[in-house]
Amino acid sequence: MKRRQLIQVCSLTAVALAAPLALAQSAPFKIGLVLPMTGQQASTGRQIEAAARLYMAQNGDTVAGRKIELIVKDDTSLPDVTKRLAQELIVNDKVDVLAGMGITPSAMATAPLATQSKTPLVVMAAATSSITNASPYIVRSSFTLPQVSVAMGDWAPKNGIKSVVTLVSDYGPGNDAEKYFSERFALNGGKVIEKLRVPLRNPDFAPFLQKVRDAKPDALFVFVPSGAGAAVMKQFVERGMDKAGIKLIATGDVTDDDQLNDMGDGALGVVTTHHYSADHNSALNKKFVDAFQKANKGMRPNFMGVGGYDGMRIIYEALKSTKGKGGGDALLAGMKGQVFESPRGEVLIDAQTRDIVQDVYLRKVEKKNGQLYNVEFDVIKAVKDPGKEK
Ligand code: DHB
Repeated sequence: MKRRQLIQVCSLTAVALAAPLALAQSAPFKIGLVLPMTGQQASTGRQIEAAARLYMAQNGDTVAGRKIELIVKDDTSLPDVTKRLAQELIVNDKVDVLAGMGITPSAMATAPLATQSKTPLVVMAAATSSITNASPYIVRSSFTLPQVSVAMGDWAPKNGIKSVVTLVSDYGPGNDAEKYFSERFALNGGKVIEKLRVPLRNPDFAPFLQKVRDAKPDALFVFVPSGAGAAVMKQFVERGMDKAGIKLIATGDVTDDDQLNDMGDGALGVVTTHHYSADHNSALNKKFVDAFQKANKGMRPNFMGVGGYDGMRIIYEALKSTKGKGGGDALLAGMKGQVFESPRGEVLIDAQTRDIVQDVYLRKVEKKNGQLYNVEFDVIKAVKDPGKEK
């Protein structure tokens, strides 16, 4: 072969080899976002979708040469539907990543599908400790109930609270909150008088609160999922619990930023522990809150919104780490060990547990410029999920 011919053959081969790669790179990268857009957890879906879209508006919809396609599906807050939609997204849409998961049963129902199909599943809301054990393809951008409940078990006895009744929604995260708060509170010399559990679906808090009144603890410790806090607060005040000398303490799910401002002055002074407040004092958070409100008719972002925003960050950076190639295992590797500044503060995706390590704050409901906020007054730095330490 003459030299010129050889060069021609070589360059043709190079073009032939590069063509499928170029095609694959230009194919869209699909994120299947399964959320409760309707039903009992609708506020979670609304927050996470808004945050995901904000992240894309701010960071572009092309990453490492791949166009990002966000496919949002409404699971109506029912885990059987979450599972069916996830299956369809994997088989029919051939999504590269699954994300969302408004409640623990949805994440648990989807976990085996992520494992079988080697599809990374970014859990942006659900917060039972054991979720990340349910599949090696799960990465979490939200939080865990043990992570935030232990902090209250330390704070309460140091602040004059010696006896408590616990009241939690009767499923994974509620059971975690009850266990980890109670254990730590007892370790610090506190007494848990009674442990009450309310159903997740359509709870009526009235009979439970009557029991609490009769038991006369120093405080009532509450966990209910995002969206249910306002009902608890209303009943607590209506039944005159605060006037009877019973304090309300809770995880920040109860004084949810999505509802807090409408809860009224009865919420003033309530102390909670959580990983995110819209009032968090950082330049990045102020920018995030402003942009979120501007894009969503003034809606204030809550901890679910932040879980969605950071979850998108985790996916974008993982795709970049594969130079646009993707692939379940490569993406997962790119998600593990990410360290970054979130609107909530510094976070790490623990490479071993695939769970989020983050600061946990003590906060008190206060009025600022006429609006109710969870104002942070103390912080426990870099908290790992205590549920993984046993
Ligand atoms: C879960 C749901 C919530 O809305 C919340 O605030 C915490 C946990 C859950 O189902 O895991």
